[in-house]
Amino acid sequence: MAELYGNPMLTGVEKTFDTDEIIVSKTDLTGKLTYGNRTFLKLAGYSEKECIGTQHNIIRHPEMPRCVFELLWETIKSGNEIFAYVINRSRNGDSYWVFAHVTPSYDGSGNTVGYHSNRRVPNKQVVTQHIVPLYKKLLDVEKSNSNPKAGLEAAFGAVKDLLNESKVNFNQFMFSLGV
Ligand SMILES: Cc1cc2nc3c(=O)[nH]c(=O)nc-3n(C[C@H](O)[C@H](O)[C@H](O)COP(=O)(O)O)c2cc1C
Repeated sequence: MAELYGNPMLTGVEKTFDTDEIIVSKTDLTGKLTYGNRTFLKLAGYSEKECIGTQHNIIRHPEMPRCVFELLWETIKSGNEIFAYVINRSRNGDSYWVFAHVTPSYDGSGNTVGYHSNRRVPNKQVVTQHIVPLYKKLLDVEKSNSNPKAGLEAAFGAVKDLLNESKVNFNQFMFSLGV
């Protein structure tokens, strides 16, 4: 993906954080940030005032395939949790990999009131050996199609094929790589 470092949005610098740090953010039902802990703000490079109320895609990295976020939203909207490796983009164009858990938040009556994500340092070897090539393949499938909707469907198909081959669901697949 080195060619993407020609992208003016990216510096090519990869940030890390400590293994005892957890990046936490919360959103409303539409994906607007309602909370970010200090580690989230530090890595994203925004103040609380700047990011609360904005869409979570404020830290979206161009190397992330759209189908992963589609799957994320499909999963959490249906009341389930998802685990995924994600690369994020800091405000200044640096990037950082995380292993994320995203889940619905409920009120006392069981209604979904928003979503919550905790992220920790990922296994770098898994990222390099498995996730970077997989996400590059999915991104290529998405981009090789001139129609974005068809590209997304094709990438989704590639993910479903991979899961069928491995006879696991997405979360099991993520954990099967080693975390
Ligand atoms: C709780 C929660 C946490 C999220 N965390 C991230 C994240 O760390 N990085 C990211 O790019 N998108 C994250 N998303 C997904 C974004 O809402 C969005 O779908 C994604 O950035 C793709 O944006 P786009 O559809 O505008 O391209 C999160 C969503 C939720 C509900």
